[in-house]
Amino acid sequence: MNRANRAFSPLLHSVFAAVLAVSCAAHAADEKTTPIKADPAKGEALFTNGDNARNIVACVSCHGAAGNSTITQNPKLAGQHEAYIAKQLLNFRTPERNNPVMTPMAKALTDEDVHNIAAYLAAQAPKPGAAKNKETIDLGKHIWRAGIAAKNVPACAGCHSPNGAGIPAQYPRLAGQHQDYTVAQLTSFRGGTRTNSPQMTAIADRLSDKEIKAVADYMAGLK
Ligand code: HEC
Ligand code: HEC
Repeated sequence: MNRANRAFSPLLHSVFAAVLAVSCAAHAADEKTTPIKADPAKGEALFTNGDNARNIVACVSCHGAAGNSTITQNPKLAGQHEAYIAKQLLNFRTPERNNPVMTPMAKALTDEDVHNIAAYLAAQAPKPGAAKNKETIDLGKHIWRAGIAAKNVPACAGCHSPNGAGIPAQYPRLAGQHQDYTVAQLTSFRGGTRTNSPQMTAIADRLSDKEIKAVADYMAGLK
């Protein structure tokens, strides 16, 4: 390398670095804000009919019309935030949220399908649920609104919002969700079978079975 080249190369490097940084930043912004131009009509068709040729069962058979599941083990998806739904469908493909029912289907979906379905579901009106257990309602409400100071459990409302509507894109909607599904998720975070959220693992780790049931029941009644 001659003297001129040596003098020139740091400059070239920094130019390359700048170009790289700009294209990475653009890419990251793309993924966060406009992932793939979603087509909710295509999402609705796939959600409602599935796709035999690709072994995709109609989502509606488990998650209900327009995502308002009536089966308590299957989550309601109507009105859930688009980015959260897309994240979960991508997470089901990885060990972070391995699930015998959802993993094979999530692997059969293309990234485009994922975004189409997420856009469709986010636009559906969620049907309310109801709290069922009078005896635990005060405990559930306390955990939701104030957390459990003695155990360093933060208030759920702080991230999931006071009425459980969540905060897009980070914090999912929880209001009206089935108790059984919520109990299963909090138990999976605690037991380490769902590892896609270090925040929720740290929180669930500190909750007893009784506290999990109480807060899940309270949440189901939020509107
Ligand atoms: C055979 C029943 C069944 C079918 C069919 C099914 N699901 Fe699911 N789905 C489930 C169950 C059960 C869970 C909860 C999994 C768990 O415990 O992690 C779930 C979870 C989900 C979640 C996570 C929701 C959340 O709040 O985190 C999404 C998103 C989802 N399903 C989307 C779909 C889509 C899209 C389809 C169609 C391509 C589909 N599901 C088909 C049973 C089903
Ligand atoms: C520091 C913020 C934060 C707090 C506080 C918090 N959460 Fe979460 N929670 C999250 C995030 C982020 C997710 C999404 C995780 C993911 O991407 O899978 C989540 C997901 C969940 C889910 C899974 C939803 C689904 O559809 O599968 C449940 C259930 C849940 N939280 C319940 C609670 C409860 C109950 C409390 C209070 C004891 C609580 N959270 C407090 C951040 C928080």
